[in-house]
Amino acid sequence: MDYFSIIHKYIPPSSPVYHFYIIHVTLVTAKALAIANRLEFSEEQKRFVEEAGMLHDIGIIRVNAPDINCRGSLAYVMHIKEGKKILEAEGLPEHARVAENHFGVGGITKEEIENADLKLPPENIMCQRIEDKVISYADLFYSKNPNKIFNEIPLDALKLKLDSYGTRQRQIFELWHKEFS
Ligand SMILES: [Fe+2]
Repeated sequence: MDYFSIIHKYIPPSSPVYHFYIIHVTLVTAKALAIANRLEFSEEQKRFVEEAGMLHDIGIIRVNAPDINCRGSLAYVMHIKEGKKILEAEGLPEHARVAENHFGVGGITKEEIENADLKLPPENIMCQRIEDKVISYADLFYSKNPNKIFNEIPLDALKLKLDSYGTRQRQIFELWHKEFS
């Protein structure tokens, strides 16, 4: 599968979002693949991690995030739903699942969506497969903040940030960190 042809279809290289997108997804995918190698994933699993990692944020093209030149109309959090729609329309339901469930620490529960008043339909959106979890974990280490886009977030700072996500997500992170790092 040529993921660049899909990226270019939705986020052309001439788009002002393109370079933010490519830098972010490449860093996340490289980290996820390093973990996949350590965990001795099969070649097929690694191929999936590469493809889904490079496509996981494709939905940002439809949200409003002026910092990274996204001029869509939707709330940022909706990039997960739009990414899912885009990749399903491309006939990639497995990759679409990652676009949706990479959010938070391996997804988010209906309760967490309601409690945080997120602009998402209230439902459980959770990573089940190890490949999805590795991508979600790797994604936590990189922001799309233009001033820090290349910087891996230091572990202490990341843990502090995740404290605000709530106990469940923080605990999952600790488990993943033991397993993946
Ligand atoms: Fe991401």
